[in-house]
Amino acid sequence: MSRLSGKSAVVTGAAEGIGNAIASAMAREGAHVFLGDIADARGAQLAADLRAAGHRADYVHCDVAREADIAGLIAAAVAGTGRLDILVNNAGIAIGGMPVHAMSDAQWHRLIEVNLTSVFRGCKQALPHMIGQKSGSIINMASAQGHIGLDGWTAYAGTKGAVMAMTRQMAVEFGPLNIRVNSISPGTINTPMNSALLQEIGGNLLQAWVKMHPLGRIGEPHEVAEAAVYLASDAAAFTTGIDLRVDGGLTAAPRYVPELL
Ligand SMILES: NC(=O)c1ccc[n+]([C@@H]2O[C@H](COP(=O)([O-])OP(=O)(O)OC[C@H]3O[C@@H](n4cnc5c(N)ncnc54)[C@H](O)[C@@H]3O)[C@@H](O)[C@H]2O)c1
Repeated sequence: MSRLSGKSAVVTGAAEGIGNAIASAMAREGAHVFLGDIADARGAQLAADLRAAGHRADYVHCDVAREADIAGLIAAAVAGTGRLDILVNNAGIAIGGMPVHAMSDAQWHRLIEVNLTSVFRGCKQALPHMIGQKSGSIINMASAQGHIGLDGWTAYAGTKGAVMAMTRQMAVEFGPLNIRVNSISPGTINTPMNSALLQEIGGNLLQAWVKMHPLGRIGEPHEVAEAAVYLASDAAAFTTGIDLRVDGGLTAAPRYVPELL
């Protein structure tokens, strides 16, 4: 029996990386998945590939920085399936690698818009349907950066810490209506976001990332997708308000530098 059969799911930022893996895993587990993204060709191709493999998937253009787009994505899921069981607020961007005083107001506002306001808007659009059904699972993408410090990522960490705080708040508020709200904090994951950073920063960055994770490697998108499938499924029916760390031990580790001993 598939873990999400009969469920209707929306995933933002579903064309690439972690969102791609989550949308694919949820479709394989029997959900009808509505993929939202701004990378239209890639997103539409993924939905077509999933359908060709016998799953149910539709692509809808959705820039999470635009409330009307998020409303349209949620509306498409409800129109297509008559319900909304799962919302994954995954889309996010990484602007950082600079001290606070080097960041412009425009960069700050863009991060807040795409990483944080999008979560508010997604929940705002999804909750009326979930409240009507008296059931639902919302999964917000946070980050290990919301738990620990890393030079140059203050604003990004701020958005992810806020996502976790909002997750707890909504879990309390909507738990009595059988709506569960959880977040996931990935460590460093092998996605286009990080490929771009590796290209931009270069040097020994990959080795440094590997060393920071006690499991001795960075993670793969499908490993985060497993956590999302679990949180969306009935196996997690008594789990709400948590942040599930899928981080190879990154946030458990002190910044241990053997070379300095
Ligand atoms: N990769 C990591 O190491 C890592 C670690 C912790 C948290 N995260 C978080 O996981 C999420 C996904 O990250 P990723 O590494 O897969 O990123 P990615 O850049 O590899 O993929 C992000 C996807 O989101 C889409 N996207 C970007 N801006 C968008 C917008 N305005 N509206 C809709 N879609 C948009 C992109 O087109 C792309 O398909 C983000 O919230 C990120 O902050 C990633």
